[in-house]
Amino acid sequence: MTPTPAAVEFRRRKRALTRRDIAPRAKGGSIAVNLSRLQPVSLPSYRIEMAGSLRTNDGAEDADRIAEVVEALTLEEKVRLVHGTYPDWGAPKAGAAGYLPPIDRLDIPALRFEDGPLGVKSTGGTAFPASLALSAAFDVDLAEEFGEAIGSEARESGVDVILAPACNLVRVPTCGRNFEYYGEDPFHSARVTAATVRGIQSRDVVATPKHYVANTQEHERVSVSAEVDERTLRERYLPAFEAAVEDGDAGAVMAAYNRVNGTYATEHRKLLTDVLKDEFEFEGPVVSDWWAVQNGPDAARAGLDLEMPGVGAIDWAAMLDDRLQLLRFVETVWPETVPGPEEAAAWLFENKGGPGGDASPHRSSFARTLPRELDRDGFAEDRLDEMVERVLTLHERVGALDGQRRSVAGPPPTHRELAKRIATSGAVLLKNAAETLPLDREAAVAVIGPHIDEAKTGGGGSSAVRATESVSPIEGIRARSTGRVVAERGHPPIETSPPFGRKVPSLGRIASAWTSPIEDARSAAGDADVAVLVVQDDAAEGRDRDSLSLPGRQDALISAVADIAERTIVVLQTAGPVEMPWIDSVDAVLELWYPGQEAGTAIASLLYGETDPGGRLPVTFAAADEYPAASAERYPGVDGPRDYPEAKHDEGVFVGYRHVDEYGIEPLFPFGHGLSYAAFEYDDFDVSFDETGPSVTVTVENAGERRGRDVVQLYVRDRDASVPRPPRELAGFEAISLGAGETRTIDVGVDERAFAVYETEQGEWVTEGGEFALDVGRSSRNIRATAAVER
Ligand code: BGC
Repeated sequence: MTPTPAAVEFRRRKRALTRRDIAPRAKGGSIAVNLSRLQPVSLPSYRIEMAGSLRTNDGAEDADRIAEVVEALTLEEKVRLVHGTYPDWGAPKAGAAGYLPPIDRLDIPALRFEDGPLGVKSTGGTAFPASLALSAAFDVDLAEEFGEAIGSEARESGVDVILAPACNLVRVPTCGRNFEYYGEDPFHSARVTAATVRGIQSRDVVATPKHYVANTQEHERVSVSAEVDERTLRERYLPAFEAAVEDGDAGAVMAAYNRVNGTYATEHRKLLTDVLKDEFEFEGPVVSDWWAVQNGPDAARAGLDLEMPGVGAIDWAAMLDDRLQLLRFVETVWPETVPGPEEAAAWLFENKGGPGGDASPHRSSFARTLPRELDRDGFAEDRLDEMVERVLTLHERVGALDGQRRSVAGPPPTHRELAKRIATSGAVLLKNAAETLPLDREAAVAVIGPHIDEAKTGGGGSSAVRATESVSPIEGIRARSTGRVVAERGHPPIETSPPFGRKVPSLGRIASAWTSPIEDARSAAGDADVAVLVVQDDAAEGRDRDSLSLPGRQDALISAVADIAERTIVVLQTAGPVEMPWIDSVDAVLELWYPGQEAGTAIASLLYGETDPGGRLPVTFAAADEYPAASAERYPGVDGPRDYPEAKHDEGVFVGYRHVDEYGIEPLFPFGHGLSYAAFEYDDFDVSFDETGPSVTVTVENAGERRGRDVVQLYVRDRDASVPRPPRELAGFEAISLGAGETRTIDVGVDERAFAVYETEQGEWVTEGGEFALDVGRSSRNIRATAAVER
């Protein structure tokens, strides 16, 4: 694959840095780089003028040090470094999803791996909003700031490798992990992913973009094969990983559970070695998802470098003798899964140690098989050495290769203000009839919903961060309102799905006095000026949602309240799209995804207009049967000739809005949609060219009466395509905040890639000559200006 010109230029300049540009920093062996040498690359999509330290992991000294270590390692030590083991339970910060043991003899310390995409788990750090909220902000600077925050929290709590960002493309609207991902557009998702990676790694912590690749569903995730043609892989499912490596310099990549075209992602030579390592020039280790290695030798030959967690099922079961340890493990890795060790034991036995678990009494497939595989079928010690070298780049990146590893310094910082800012910047105002919002602070409000006294911090599974402090919706509203506030649940608690299994009743703070019937909610709404309904869905890793309906009788609750209330506002806390049968009977709808620990503060600040809802939809909201994956062959897949289901991705490149646009479907809310309390007008639209390609300028005026946040979106249309191409594809975006009456001219560059298609035969990106339209708008269906360009 041909890297973009800016990426090539960035790499060239990075390599050209001389020792003079690199000054040793005080701590941990990191290196500060004179970034002025990198700044002249000017494409807006490549923010190489990044702040903070940039490790020169291609420095000759580091490579020498790694080579020295490999030389000094025994075979047994090499094998120890390519798979995880038991966490070091004795250490003060024991909780971690994965643990790589030390080699004390050579002063190589242990490494800790921890989830994940919504914050650093088990460290007492911040429970951030869902990744979809971050992506809805359409703001690469914010994504980088988020990365820096979780990087600092990880670093301060002794975590070396963060198992994030999760950057699978949203294809199946009910996928249980959509809230962990960055949406349905590959260009946008790639930019947010790369920025998050840069942020994390600026704190000398390694990021692990995951799950490579085409992990588009949770149903049968450890056996399903994503059947997907090469053009679609290149244009849809690979770009986020490509950007994570080429623009983000990701230090690790996690290989997924699923198969791709019949071969496990962990054993896929073409994807791991040819594409990721050779084409994208990824220099770190490919890490397996937890228990995703099916066949150690095949995986090692194909390009997998590190098996995680490296501990088999029976080992976990043996831990039953130490209930405290088992409970700690279960609490750490899957907090919502099971209430106690007995249940945990049953679960572990049933699942043989984890999804795709290896029931062997030995710890790791690599440990068991690699020594005996040496010199067989092309598996030479050279390959083992390469695996170890790649693993040691993790140590090198966190400053652990020279015995100077940092010490763990007390409780990690928290980032409450940032968590709130992400929640508000990513909140999408879907509907606002007759300017119902923002609310007057004196209004009498009935706050209604099954979990109004809990902050919705995320979905179930490995990304669940247990918040140490949080603000619930009712607390947030009470703190802001100067009028009467009445609270009613109106609905029993929503059951929460544990990952991989059956539903259990929510363990949230449920007081029986709170469970009030719909009638109580209606009467509270009838007595108030406005009803604010806070509703939510239920999503978790390991299982997909059954439908796009809100669970329980929440739809009925909304309709019943809307029927009586003077004005009705629905606050959604969902993992992605939901159907809204009540949409015409409510006045306003505000989507907050999973807003994180500052939920209440964010909701109140939006309702009362202290902050403009800044988000735009990174996923299309449509009826379940209007998505491309609406047939059993496409999702969840049907059994093929072999013993696993195949999910045919034969909608090809027509995923998300590209599908509804192509087939003329009117979605409930289109990709890119989001209203504002301000009023934006676009003027002076112009296109110019320089050596990097076209760029578009547009003047945006806030003609409203309050500060607002807008996201200018640029779409490309190929008017003369000879191959099937979506009617419109996102090619640029820029988030801006403007005060009332303020005007700003913005400039959005278009990468050549936006015009190109991936030609499978030639194995490269090709721009067909002809006319293209550049559309500037406020959503994929709200275009304000168009220009034609020739390529
Ligand atoms: C998930 C990964 C996660 C890992 C460790 C797996 O089940 O798929 O995303 O990082 O567990 O918790």
